[in-house]
Amino acid sequence: MAKLGVNVDHIATIRQARGGTEPDPVTASAIAELAGADGITVHLREDRRHIQDRDVMLLRRTVQTHLNLEMAATDEMVAIAMKVVPDYVTLVPEKRQELTTEGGLDVVKQKQKLAKQIDLLHQAGITVSLFVDPDLEQLKASARVKADYIEIHTGTYCDAKGKAKVSELAKIEEAVKAGKKLGLGVNAGHGLNYQNIKPVLALGGIEEYNIGHSIISRAVLVGLDRAVREMAELVHGS
Ligand code: PXP
Repeated sequence: MAKLGVNVDHIATIRQARGGTEPDPVTASAIAELAGADGITVHLREDRRHIQDRDVMLLRRTVQTHLNLEMAATDEMVAIAMKVVPDYVTLVPEKRQELTTEGGLDVVKQKQKLAKQIDLLHQAGITVSLFVDPDLEQLKASARVKADYIEIHTGTYCDAKGKAKVSELAKIEEAVKAGKKLGLGVNAGHGLNYQNIKPVLALGGIEEYNIGHSIISRAVLVGLDRAVREMAELVHGS
């Protein structure tokens, strides 16, 4: 059975919009676990635009499933990971101006740096995953730098239309097979929603899906009715 890692970054995005304390991604993570999440994923970005260091520290102590820390492959982030010791680190590319992670990590170009960082993370007992495009050269390089997992970037597939979608799905299928042959665990994520995940699920072989935006978007809409009713009762009953 495939696993679901729930990414709670956007709970923190809403909190940061007001600079206050709610909604708390730590509370949201507990709710996600109670609802059946197999893991909690957070991306501690260099600009701290959503998840804060405090969230990661608290989640390390409260997450009952497994904690997956997404982060850029920088010395600062590796040092934080060595202190927090999440169950998994997923290394992702990061650009300051991007709205969300754009494209996979270029493992081929950064082999030496990544091999060193992965070695350090392994010494701390952390399992390491690399977020990569479904590209054979990137997969081979991931195995060479001794990553434990790859997370296949599904964003291009999710954005594609018509024939291009079919060929992007085929690339994911090939990457799943190739990753396994190389001895890598295979996860997937980015852009997946309640519709476009179905053909990916049908491929089989993917261990864990990391999903954030579509779940938090749906939570806002399915939760809005109850939230308005509760406030209307207060206001109308006054
Ligand atoms: N996996 C990785 C590596 C990501 O960077 C993200 C976005 O933070 C996700 C999965 C989740 O993507 P989405 O929010 O589109 O579901």
